[in-house]
Order: sequence, then C-alpha cells, then structure tokens
Amino acid sequence: MEQQRILCVGLVCLDIINVVDKYPEEDTDSRCVSQRWQRGGNASNSCTVLSLLGAPCAFMGSLTAGPVADFIVNDFLQRSVDTSAVVWQVKGQTPCACCVICPSGGSRTVVLSDTNLPDVTENDFSKVDLRQFKWIHIEGRNAEQQVKMIQQVELYNSRLPQQQRITVSVEIEKTREELYQLFAHGDVVFVSKDVARHFGFQTAQTALTGLYSRVKQGAVLICAWAEKGADALGPDGLLIHSDAFPPETLVDTLGAGDTFNAAVISKLSNGGSLQDALTFGCRVAGRKCGFHGYDGISEEFSDG
Ligand code: ADP
Ligand code: FRU
Repeated sequence: MEQQRILCVGLVCLDIINVVDKYPEEDTDSRCVSQRWQRGGNASNSCTVLSLLGAPCAFMGSLTAGPVADFIVNDFLQRSVDTSAVVWQVKGQTPCACCVICPSGGSRTVVLSDTNLPDVTENDFSKVDLRQFKWIHIEGRNAEQQVKMIQQVELYNSRLPQQQRITVSVEIEKTREELYQLFAHGDVVFVSKDVARHFGFQTAQTALTGLYSRVKQGAVLICAWAEKGADALGPDGLLIHSDAFPPETLVDTLGAGDTFNAAVISKLSNGGSLQDALTFGCRVAGRKCGFHGYDGISEEFSDG
C-alpha cells in the first residue's frame, strides 16, 4: 500500500508579494525592491512545507478555473502536493492577497480578497477516500461544516483499531466567533497569538491554561508566539516550551505560522514527542524567517 498522506483542508490563494525597504506612506507612489507571485493560504503553505520536509501530503480547498488557478495547480504539482481533493467551483473568484514584506521591520502586511468562492462542504468531504490519510489538518474557516467533516473522521475512526486511526488537527487563527467551536474538535489544536490576545491573554502559557478547558479530553493545545517561540499543553497538565530560533537576519515572516504548524504535524505524525515537535516547529519556522519563500527549508530538516 502507498504511504499514507497528510491532508490539509483550507485556503489556497495567490499571494502577490511586494518586498519593500520601507513600509509605504498612504497615498504615495513608490518602487518595491522585488515582486513575485507565490501560492499562498495557510493550508496550502503548510502543504508546501510538509512536502519539503519529506512528508507526502494533499490539499483540499476551493478553486475556480482560470489563469490564477492554473498558476496555483502548477505550483502544487511542482511541490508534489496531491490536488485530487481540490473542489472546482463554478461560481466565484480564486482568492488573491496583496502582501507587503518589509524585512527591515520584520513585518508582513496582507490584504486578502476572499469574497465569493464557496468553501468546501461536508458533502465534498464525504467523497474523499479517508483510507489514504493518517492525519487531517483543518484550517478554521467555515467551522460549522468543518465540525461535520471531523465527525465523519470520528465515525471512520470508530471502526478502526487505535493505531490505524486518523489524527485530526485544527487551526484557530482568526478572531472570529464561529471558529471557536473548533476548540472542542481536534486531537491537536493550534491557537494563534491573535486569538489568545482576543481572549485577554498576554502570553502563550496563560492562554494555554486559560483555554485548555475548551478542548476535548486528551487533546493537545499549542500556541506559537512569534519571537517568543511556542508552548503546548497536553492532558498530563505539563506546560511545554520551545524558544524561537531567530535567523541571523529576519527576511520574510509571511507563512511562519503555517511553517510551524506543518513542522509540528510532520514530527508528531512520525511518532515524535510533543517537546520534539515544538522544538522542530520553532527551528523550521525560524529558519524560514531567514529567507524569502520556502525553498530554503533545507534537506537537513527532512524527516523522511
Ligand atoms: P504567524 O504570525 O505567521 O501566524 P507566529 O507569530 O505564530 O506566525 O510564529 C510561528 C512561529 O514562527 C513561532 O513559534 C516562531 O518559532 C517562528 N517565528 C515567527 N516570527 C519569528 C521571529 N520574528 N523570530 C524568530 N522566529 C519567529
Ligand atoms: C500566510 C497566508 C498567506 C495568505 C494569508 C491569508 O499565513 O496564508 O499566504 O495571503 O495568510 O490570510
């Protein structure tokens, strides 16, 4: 049998990235240092990183036919990301983001147009052959439907022995009320600094202890906090921490969180400990911040 894959469900978009030496003033006309098109979206970026780490993976999300989708699909293929679960919508536009990366300040500013392309539904998900996958990662978007997708996985799992079950992770990154129902549904839950702050927490540690009651029994809650690294809390009640691994020069933090998630998932899905996964996540994400895009995630990290 073919090696089981990791499926990432969520957004794919086109990122039009402008690298600037100084963040532009409003209503001015300036030149950038460089500009590029890059496939973006959290779940899509995590697939890129999984592939670079040597983990077979697949992407599930919506696209609509046209030149932007051609660019995106071509890039998935180049990265060996399986696209057979992509849902081709007949209405709407493929999302596109204008991104400004300012290495001198370490910032990445994103304006996303994600307006009218329908999201993947539980019905779309029911057509996926779950036997291909050992792990399913869901980027929180249309959470009500996504909870139903996870329930399909739970039903599938209930017929299998423990070691053959699919692990489910979810990412709660945006501060949107609808997404918070996902806390209760992942074996591994990634919560962002933004969401933690929204709930009134000023550190990853206080966020984890404060939010842990929302996750299901036995789940692991993980919170990354940029240059402060990341923390995790599991059912044993022990807080685990990894410092960040800052690059020599901060170049591009766009997708650092997606890189972190992918590296953590790749380590955990290979049987690594939570501490190893957290440290690996910070190492790979820190490395990624030191160059543009993802190509520099080198073989040295490959987990096989
Ligand atoms: P995002 O804003 O893309 O969601 P996070 O801020 O959550 O990303 O960061 C994810 C991980 O990336 C952090 O845990 C850290 O390991 C790494 N990281 C992000 N920003 C930096 C930075 N400025 N220096 C070092 N590491 C960073
Ligand atoms: C990075 C990213 C970009 C995309 C934006 C969408 O995490 O996925 O690729 O433009 O976030 O919010």
